[in-house]
Amino acid sequence: MRKKNYEQLKKIRMEYASMWNSKSEIIYNTGFYEWMADFLDGYERVLEIGSGAGYAAKALIETGHSIVSIDENPECLRLARKNLHKDSIASVLIERGKSIFDKGRYNIEYDEIAVNIHNDKVVLIEGDIVEDPHLAQWLRSGEQFDAIICWLIGTHFFRDSSETLKRHGLKVREKPLAYRRFVQGKVYELADALLRPGGILQIVDKVNSDKDSDIIFENHQSRAADSFLKIEEIHYKYAADMVSKLHSVEAAGNLDVKQESDQAFLASIISKRK
Ligand SMILES: C[S@@+](CC[C@H](N)C(=O)[O-])C[C@H]1O[C@@H](n2cnc3c(N)ncnc32)[C@H](O)[C@@H]1O
Repeated sequence: MRKKNYEQLKKIRMEYASMWNSKSEIIYNTGFYEWMADFLDGYERVLEIGSGAGYAAKALIETGHSIVSIDENPECLRLARKNLHKDSIASVLIERGKSIFDKGRYNIEYDEIAVNIHNDKVVLIEGDIVEDPHLAQWLRSGEQFDAIICWLIGTHFFRDSSETLKRHGLKVREKPLAYRRFVQGKVYELADALLRPGGILQIVDKVNSDKDSDIIFENHQSRAADSFLKIEEIHYKYAADMVSKLHSVEAAGNLDVKQESDQAFLASIISKRK
C-alpha cells in the first residue's frame, strides 16, 4: 500500500512536470518569459519560487542573472536541470524531500541544507514554500537577494492528500485560486526578510482583464501592508493566443486540470523593499 501511494505521487508529479514542460515551451517561444524577465534588468541575484520546467530560469540566465530556484516537485527540478543542461547551462540540484504515507495521506520531511552554495550561478532546490523550516533557515543564512520572483504559481492535485495543505485548509482541486493566493502571501513574507533594501518582488499571474487593475493593486497592497514592501507598479500583457495554446495542452493531457478559459492577460506586479 505504501509503495502504491508513493508510485501514485511520483506518477502525478511526472505528468504535471511533463505538462508544464509543454506549456512553458509555448510561453518561452512566444516571448512572454522575456517580457517578465525585462522587469528584472539590473537586479542580478534572483530567488525564484516555483522552478517548473526551468524555462523561466533559462530566460533569466540568458539575460545575465544568477538564480536560486525552489520547487516542491522533484520531477520538475530534474526536468529543469535537463532542459538547462541542453542549453549548456550547468546547475546544482539539491533533492531533499522524503514522502511518508499514512492512511492515504502524506507528509514530506525535508533534510537540512548543509552546503554554502548561495552564490552559485544556478541552484535548484527541492522545498516547499508553504512549510519548510530548514529551507527558510538556509535562505536566511545567505546574502539578501536583489529580486524574488513567483511566476504563474500552481500545483498538481495530489497535493490535496498532503498533511501540509490540510493543515492550512487548502484544496487545490476545488480552489486553485485560493492556493495561488496563499503561496503568494508566503512569498510576500519571504521577500520581507530576504530582499535587500531597494530589491524587488515580482509576481506574475494570469488575470481576466486589465480592467481589474485597481482591485489587484489593492489586494497586493493589503498583503504587503505589514511588511517593508511597497507595491509600485502593475503591468499587463494581452496573452489570449498564448493562453489558448496553453489550454490546448491541458485538454490533451492526462491531468484533470480545471480550465480557466477567460484568463487572457498576464499581470506583472512589482513591489519594492523600502
Ligand atoms: C505552473 S509552474 C510555473 C513554473 C515557473 N515559475 C514558470 O513560470 O515557468 C508552478 C511551479 O511551482 C511549483 N510549486 C507550487 N507550489 C509550490 C510550493 N508550495 N513550494 C515550491 N514550489 C511550488 C510547482 O511544483 C510548479 O513546478
